[in-house]
Order: sequence, then structure tokens, then C-alpha cells
Amino acid sequence: MKILLINGPNLNLLGKREADIYGDVDLETIEVNLMRLASLHGCELVPIQTNAEHEIIDEIHLALDTDIEVILINPGAFTHTSIAIRDALLGVNIPFYEIHISDVFAREEFRHKSFFSDIAINVFSGLGVEGYEKALLEAISKFKRS
Ligand code: DQA
Repeated sequence: MKILLINGPNLNLLGKREADIYGDVDLETIEVNLMRLASLHGCELVPIQTNAEHEIIDEIHLALDTDIEVILINPGAFTHTSIAIRDALLGVNIPFYEIHISDVFAREEFRHKSFFSDIAINVFSGLGVEGYEKALLEAISKFKRS
């Protein structure tokens, strides 16, 4: 099973960015660990990070042609703004998990609104970087055909 991991804007700064909120693990470490965990379960994880909304949309469209069966996405601040990314996910109809390192629902009010939570298979918010692992393991147990 092939899984696409999308990290949105500013997540390339993990490890340097607001460590009190996002911790000190960098994105490359997260991606390498998840690729390893996926392969231990006989799956392939394809990681991408971009700061551009249209590139996230293009990657979601491309997933249809590259046999992606599940998407894990931390849309960063686009969580709270992007109907276009929501529409892309609905458009390709690939099941997806929403991930946030911090607990967006317990932070500033403008972060309480997510354009993804009502259509995601599940939401992992506020579990730190472990949220990525939990989402991956749940996706594998739910969607991998043996
Ligand atoms: C985030 C939460 C968002 O509100 C914020 O804009 C981010 C990261 C998280 O992982 O906690 O960039 O998605």
C-alpha cells in the first residue's frame, strides 16, 4: 500500500520553529521514521512538504495517477483557510487523516475552525510528532489489504 504524507506551510521549519509549541524534532527525522515504520508494515510512504497551496492541490490530484491509497496531511495554517484543498481531497476521493502537532482546538480561536475535520477518516491533534505515527498505524490497520 502506498501512502502520501503531505506537510504544508512552515512545517519545513520544524525543529527551529516555536519549539515550545511544536517541539524540537525536525521534519526530515519525522519523514525518515515514518518511511521506516511504513516499510516495516510492507507499505511505502511518500513524503512531500510545500509552502504553496496550489502545489498541495496538484499533489493531491497526482495521487490518483500514482496509486496512492491513503493520504496523511498536516495542512498547517491552510487547515483554517483552504476550501480549495478540502475540495481537492473530496475530488480525488482518497481517504485521508488530518494531523496537527499542537492541539489546534485548544489554541487561539482562529485555529478552532478546520476545513478538514468533518471529512477526515480521523484527526490527530495535540499528540506532538507521535500523531504522525498514530495516524500512519491506524491507516495501515484500516486500509491495508493483506
Ligand atoms: C499546525 C497547527 C496550525 O494551526 C499551524 O498553522 C501550523 C501547524 C500543527 O501541526 O499543530 O502551521 O498544523
